[in-house]
Amino acid sequence: MQLKDRVALITGGNRGIGLATARLFAQEGARVMLVARDQAKGESEAALIPNAKFIPADVTQAGDCRRAVEATVQAFGGLDILVNCAGIIYRNRTVEQTTEDEWDATFNVNVRGTFLMCKYALPHLRARKGSIVNLSSYVGLVGFRGASAYAASKAAIVNLTRSMALDHAREGIRVNAVCPGSVDTEMIHTAWEQFGDVETARRLWADKHPLGRIAQPAEVAQTILFLASDAASFITGAALAVDGGLTAG
Ligand SMILES: NC(=O)c1ccc[n+]([C@@H]2O[C@H](COP(=O)([O-])OP(=O)(O)OC[C@H]3O[C@@H](n4cnc5c(N)ncnc54)[C@H](O)[C@@H]3O)[C@@H](O)[C@H]2O)c1
Repeated sequence: MQLKDRVALITGGNRGIGLATARLFAQEGARVMLVARDQAKGESEAALIPNAKFIPADVTQAGDCRRAVEATVQAFGGLDILVNCAGIIYRNRTVEQTTEDEWDATFNVNVRGTFLMCKYALPHLRARKGSIVNLSSYVGLVGFRGASAYAASKAAIVNLTRSMALDHAREGIRVNAVCPGSVDTEMIHTAWEQFGDVETARRLWADKHPLGRIAQPAEVAQTILFLASDAASFITGAALAVDGGLTAG
């Protein structure tokens, strides 16, 4: 068991990559707090995971982030791992087509949310020499057509990760980012629906990855587990591509 008796807080933990990570962490012996906005789904998913609880929170709200961290520490006695999975995307938007509200919403969830959760988790992580894993994207490493706000926010997460890694290395806190290619979650299903023909979209999305398919959430969860665990004890400030070779060329 790679995370025996560790305590993890996972934002966006009620579905997609966050939920897959929560399930894997629990299998590896962790106690897990799921954090997301949808209370009904969060509670029902947490009830199916051993040693898991759920707390509703909007990561754009400082008070919610502070409460989520405090509730985790109160429930489980401390905090070892923070995984920032909560994220949103507006597709089919060049800069001209992006409204100011869409830009702000993207940065509020993806960047401010990550910042706030880190800010309130750090005092507890320091006490246990814990670690943080932030969800960036392959589009945090390369440009992305049609979702410039999202790509900019994911690049910001990469450099936030690197800067935090430097700031907190001597405290024994490791901070890393994961940069997935396309992953089979509701986020991608929405993109396929927007494309129109879901079966064609599914094939096109698979074809653009050198491995010829998109990832399953469990495959990204395995990478998050690796970075959060002692197996990655000398890794900090990394932005690890889990992208089927997409950024290799
Ligand atoms: N699916 C992909 O292809 C893909 C690829 C690269 C990176 N990512 C990133 O991985 C992360 C997880 O994505 P996913 O595919 O599981 O997406 P998803 O849409 O299935 O899940 C996103 C989660 O974020 C939560 N969330 C959104 N706004 C929130 C807010 N204000 N407060 C609290 N929670 C909020 C949602 O409730 C949900 O649980 C995201 O950061 C996403 O950008 C996804």
